[in-house]
Amino acid sequence: MVDATAPLLAAHELTRHYSVRRGLFQPAAVIKALNGVSFTVQAGQTLAVVGESGCGKSTLARALTLIEKPSSGSLRLGGIDVVTAGPPAVRQLRKTVQMVFQNPYASLNPRKRVEQMLEEPLQLNTPLSAAERRERVADMLRQVGLNPEHARRYPHMFSGGQRQRIAIARAMILQPQLLVADEPTSALDVSIQAQILNLFMDLQESSRVACVFISHNLSVVEHIAQRVMVMYLGRVVEFAPKAALFTRAVHPYTRALLSATPSIDPARRAQKLRIQGEPPSPLDPPPGCSFHKRCPHATDRCAIEVPSLRPIAGHEVACHHAEALAG
Ligand SMILES: Nc1ncnc2c1ncn2[C@@H]1O[C@H](COP(=O)(O)OP(=O)(O)OP(=O)(O)O)[C@@H](O)[C@H]1O
Ligand SMILES: [Mg+2]
Repeated sequence: MVDATAPLLAAHELTRHYSVRRGLFQPAAVIKALNGVSFTVQAGQTLAVVGESGCGKSTLARALTLIEKPSSGSLRLGGIDVVTAGPPAVRQLRKTVQMVFQNPYASLNPRKRVEQMLEEPLQLNTPLSAAERRERVADMLRQVGLNPEHARRYPHMFSGGQRQRIAIARAMILQPQLLVADEPTSALDVSIQAQILNLFMDLQESSRVACVFISHNLSVVEHIAQRVMVMYLGRVVEFAPKAALFTRAVHPYTRALLSATPSIDPARRAQKLRIQGEPPSPLDPPPGCSFHKRCPHATDRCAIEVPSLRPIAGHEVACHHAEALAG
């Protein structure tokens, strides 16, 4: 059943576990790449997902785009549970969610012309005539800032930034409701990154597409997102509206991430917090709060009890000391 009042996307206690072999005579180990993640995205909104390498961002992206099924939990798209839905419903839902990958050199087929790449999804999924398809492709190319006359070219004839524009055009051509972008600017030159971010913002304004925008860099998401979700080792540690997160982050990990982010705001530049040590191995996560070994506020309780995500001062925070830190 489709529920018209439901959020566009609702993830509840989503997990994704990978079984990995450590050696010939060793038992398989389990990596909890996603370890109980819950959130919603409303139509037309942008949620930023940030966190260090290995915290589960790409695993989340693969689950949201139905590339991989979650190990447990529920994922509802437009009110339909994609974990239990049958293949026809899933095929239908796949069209409503599209993905933009990190590396536009690897994500575009080098043997296909741009026009072919953009026309194929239309041919398979819409009743448009050949002339209408060409028209739609030309419009889409214009929207992403490319010249429609370049449609006959192959990917290698474009720069990295232009290739990412093509990848974005391909993701948008079926007019999806949700775009999942996994580090879409981090393979690009710094000067090009801002242009691609601007393009995302323009597209959102013109097409009202919702977006889950993944980055390891908080400053990248500062302009683009309405809400920010901070992940650490497969869990959400803080979730807040963007302005609240950037001005009054509560979780010590978010604060450390912010202070590691270059900022033009002198107040923010002044407070330098360094995270101690390396992120723990997901094969052997510490007990209790997974951040406690690197946290300047950790107490005995943090080493024993996993903190659950709870509302504090307009944020949701998973920290035993959140009240004291927010006060
Ligand atoms: N197919 C897989 N098999 C085994 N382990 C995996 C698999 N995919 C991901 N992992 C592990 O799951 C954890 C999360 O990986 P993921 O790629 O989601 O992180 P990420 O946040 O996207 O990192 P990065 O910023 O480096 O892209 C990592 O420890 C990774 O090694
Ligand atoms: Mg990744």
